[in-house]
Amino acid sequence: MEKPGRNRKAEIKIGLLGCGTIGSGVFHLAVKNKRAIEESAGRPVRVSKILVKDFDEPRPFPADESIMVTDPGGILEDPDIDIFVEVMGGIEPAKSFALRILNRGSNLVTANKDLIATFGPELIEAASKTGARFKFEASVGGGIPLIRPLEESLGGDNILKIMGIMNGTTNYILTRMSSEGITYEDALMEAQKLGYTESNPESDVAGTDAAHKTAILSSIAFKKGVTQDQVYREGIQSIRPEDLENARELGYSVKLLAITECDGGGIYARVHPTMIPLDHPLTSVSGNFNAVFVIGESVGELMFYGQGAGSLPTATAILGDVVNIAGELGTPLASNRDYWLRPADVRSIGDVMTKFYMVLKVVDRPGVLAKIAGVFGDNDVSLESVVQKGIGDSSEIVLITHVVRDENFRRAREGLENLEVVLEIPSVIRVEGETAASH
Ligand SMILES: NC(=O)c1ccc[n+]([C@@H]2O[C@H](COP(=O)([O-])OP(=O)(O)OC[C@H]3O[C@@H](n4cnc5c(N)ncnc54)[C@H](OP(=O)(O)O)[C@@H]3O)[C@@H](O)[C@H]2O)c1
Repeated sequence: MEKPGRNRKAEIKIGLLGCGTIGSGVFHLAVKNKRAIEESAGRPVRVSKILVKDFDEPRPFPADESIMVTDPGGILEDPDIDIFVEVMGGIEPAKSFALRILNRGSNLVTANKDLIATFGPELIEAASKTGARFKFEASVGGGIPLIRPLEESLGGDNILKIMGIMNGTTNYILTRMSSEGITYEDALMEAQKLGYTESNPESDVAGTDAAHKTAILSSIAFKKGVTQDQVYREGIQSIRPEDLENARELGYSVKLLAITECDGGGIYARVHPTMIPLDHPLTSVSGNFNAVFVIGESVGELMFYGQGAGSLPTATAILGDVVNIAGELGTPLASNRDYWLRPADVRSIGDVMTKFYMVLKVVDRPGVLAKIAGVFGDNDVSLESVVQKGIGDSSEIVLITHVVRDENFRRAREGLENLEVVLEIPSVIRVEGETAASH
């Protein structure tokens, strides 16, 4: 609970939990943009204490060592702190600290997508019970404003669907594979050299990072609690340069998309490589940029674009939350996001309706196409286009299905794998839409 009289204090004091890539960026901007922040918040804002593990750790931006502490109690129990900013990352001790702060009604801003995507309901409930302000704009899309626009600006509309490029590393890799014709392994190595990946890139390339962000956006957009384990995910590791070339010939690009939609009852949340039309706005998003395409029932199509990670863009989103809380102090809580406690009916990937691109390596002999068409027909999968290319004794069939139920396609794929004329199925990629307007 806000203490009586606290909101009349002249200065807002921030307790920064963590001072690494993002935390040192927050400190840097809080000093550099002091005047702009004061104008926006209506009073001065200052980082008054910083928690770190090790004083001597190098930081991207220097921070005031005289206010650094290594004892969590020394900052968590400081009664003068108005807003805590958690930028340590990981689950523990971040979760225990967050609950300690929220359970006693203190305000918290975090960039921790893993924490919100996994324990969102527990944290929201704690904040809701005590009336603490709890904001996490930086947890999705780095510097791109997404949560506040979805919650507030679009609060009067029904969101139908969100499709986003929410991981810069994988977008960089796919962009390089497409523009240079290089392999996944070479593009990953390049991204690592440029410092675009975590030391262990698994979470990025396997779609886990994007799935965490999808869970958060789904909860906000559809007003039900979705956790990361409910989001289907497939990574980009098996995409081949040939697939990107085929895609272009067919009029598509390939992106790792986070897609979430609601049909009024169920929510379909998934992350997987996706072929999208070359004229779709998301196709033009290249390199390590992020973009999120939103379709609202009344507002229509919107796109948010920018730096989805990085020290200063992410710190900007955090300071936006700080300014927002500063403006709310002393006022009743507008929404405690109780909807997050209602579990969502998240449908299985098998229920998703989509088109598929598939490549089959087959023996080059008459009657093969008829056998393949038979397996598709038996599983109610109809084909939109089929191209056959001869390569020595075998040939390659590149096909695109009409919109089918994912489960039907899975069964057809199993049937094809058992056909003696099919040597290999090197690629399967889901396909979204004909043009942007057809979504
Ligand atoms: N990096 C990005 O581009 C980005 C973008 C959006 C969101 N985020 C999120 O922002 C958060 C922070 O990421 P980051 O890249 O800034 O991480 P980071 O560079 O590893 O920084 C973590 C900071 O937390 C401190 N810390 C960690 N565990 C601690 C503990 N047990 N006790 C005290 N201090 C502890 C570290 O202290 P020392 O300095 O002493 O080691 C360090 O200052 C994560 O949740 C991440 O998912 C990051």
